[in-house]
Amino acid sequence: MSGTLESLNKHFGLSGKINFVEDHNLVKLEVLSQSSRLECYLQGAHITSFKHNKAGELLWLSPIANFAQGKAIRGGIPLCWPWFGKHSDASLQQHGFARNSLFEVSKTSALDNGDVEIVLRLTANETTLSIWPYQFLLEVSITLGESLSVELISHNKDDKPFFVTEAIHSYFKLDDISRLSIGGLEGAKYYDQLSDKECVQAEVNCCINQETDRIYQAPENGIQLLHNDGVKIGLVQENANAVVVWNPWVGKSASMNDFPDSGYKNMVCVEAANARYKVINLAPGSRHSIKQTLQIALE
Ligand code: BG6
Repeated sequence: MSGTLESLNKHFGLSGKINFVEDHNLVKLEVLSQSSRLECYLQGAHITSFKHNKAGELLWLSPIANFAQGKAIRGGIPLCWPWFGKHSDASLQQHGFARNSLFEVSKTSALDNGDVEIVLRLTANETTLSIWPYQFLLEVSITLGESLSVELISHNKDDKPFFVTEAIHSYFKLDDISRLSIGGLEGAKYYDQLSDKECVQAEVNCCINQETDRIYQAPENGIQLLHNDGVKIGLVQENANAVVVWNPWVGKSASMNDFPDSGYKNMVCVEAANARYKVINLAPGSRHSIKQTLQIALE
């Protein structure tokens, strides 16, 4: 591990901005911009912390998350790819293999405006080919500054077309779920995954007081996640046709071994996705990008 870290820091480290460290036997990037700090594991290109200088930590990370090679980390921003949700083949794990796969670093740079950019990549290997028989390149471009952008770029490197569904599965940290309201979804159609019904959001704000698992048709004007302690997060989603809102509430929290029983009180997932309403059809040689930017405003 120490040789790997030395080589990563030599080729991709940026003094005072990007440092590679070992954590739980995994490689983690610590990234510093003028206005924020980020932590990201190479496994899954998984961001686990986004701390804004004024607003504090914005992401929820389970205090009992598993950190182990090949295991998805509970919390932060897992990436669901090349499929979102359950696969029709029940032997294949929910949300695809990207979140369990080891990414490589492709590029790091300090931008002129003080932001820091990191590009991570995953390509087909023996394991992915045994699950999903396509040659691909998945790039994850992360830009950290006053806001945080995560972009997923799928490239078809095969000689046959393939389909992708995907999500930037963001877990937000809350003081208290009872004080959360999500704006921007009024009038939006959604599929309720719990009741298996198509519904329409009647209320101006989406508030959560029970188990919630919905796939909304993405609204045109973005959504606002209203934090309960005066922090407002604007979510700008590009090329996403769906927004997933998930909170496991009491019963489901208790059934997950990497999730504290009372964890549902302090988190909500709001995910930019391409799922249910549209699959991405990628012809050989083509690419598709989905992007989510978290913009922070203090009230
Ligand atoms: C959400 C799904 O995106 O992720 C839920 O809509 C699912 O149905 C949740 O339970 C968590 O999934 P996982 O595989 O990380 O436990």
